[in-house]
Amino acid sequence: MKLLAFAGSSSKHSINKKLVAYAAGLFEDVEIEIIDLNDYELPLFSVDKEKLIGAPPVARLFLDKIEAANILVISVAEHNAGLTVAFKNIYDWASRQKKLVFNNTPLLLLSTSPGKRGGASSLEAAKISLQWYGGNIKATFSLPSFEENFDKENSKISNIEYDTALREIIRNFDYEQKA
Ligand SMILES: Cc1cc2nc3c(=O)[nH]c(=O)nc-3n(C[C@H](O)[C@H](O)[C@H](O)COP(=O)(O)O)c2cc1C
Repeated sequence: MKLLAFAGSSSKHSINKKLVAYAAGLFEDVEIEIIDLNDYELPLFSVDKEKLIGAPPVARLFLDKIEAANILVISVAEHNAGLTVAFKNIYDWASRQKKLVFNNTPLLLLSTSPGKRGGASSLEAAKISLQWYGGNIKATFSLPSFEENFDKENSKISNIEYDTALREIIRNFDYEQKA
């Protein structure tokens, strides 16, 4: 089983990247690949730019990574109560080459932020959007107040209740691929 994980963020020190890496590591018997959206950077999507540059190979590479995976774990960062430009941009470009960007692959959708809502608005935005584009969302989990609940030194959730909740979600994860 191949697990592909990434954060919906282009920040070098992304807290969502830390969370997604931790969550990916809790899956058993999987081969994990963590990608960074900085490696999939493209100009800001517009139909005019698309006319100029066509279908960028980088967007195809992103789709290839998703197609090769049996499990997706994505942790979305929150900017102004929505998805980050970095995530939305590669998502928009990729969707022009293939509508079902997320390929109906079983998906664990996460979010975190330094705030008490843990990026809940961005997670909700992702839920609403991805379901139309092959997002086979099996479970969601949001970690609030990242700085208090995540031990950066040891790269793990420090709050026992949140950690138990995430482990439980992963233990019960439904690996079934949608048709
Ligand atoms: C432009 C901008 C807008 C933000 N808006 C929100 C917000 O609406 N809600 C929130 O919880 N955090 C917000 N934040 C704080 C981010 O959650 C924080 O920067 C976090 O580290 C982003 O995740 P990342 O480190 O994975 O990129 C915002 C940050 C920036 C730079």
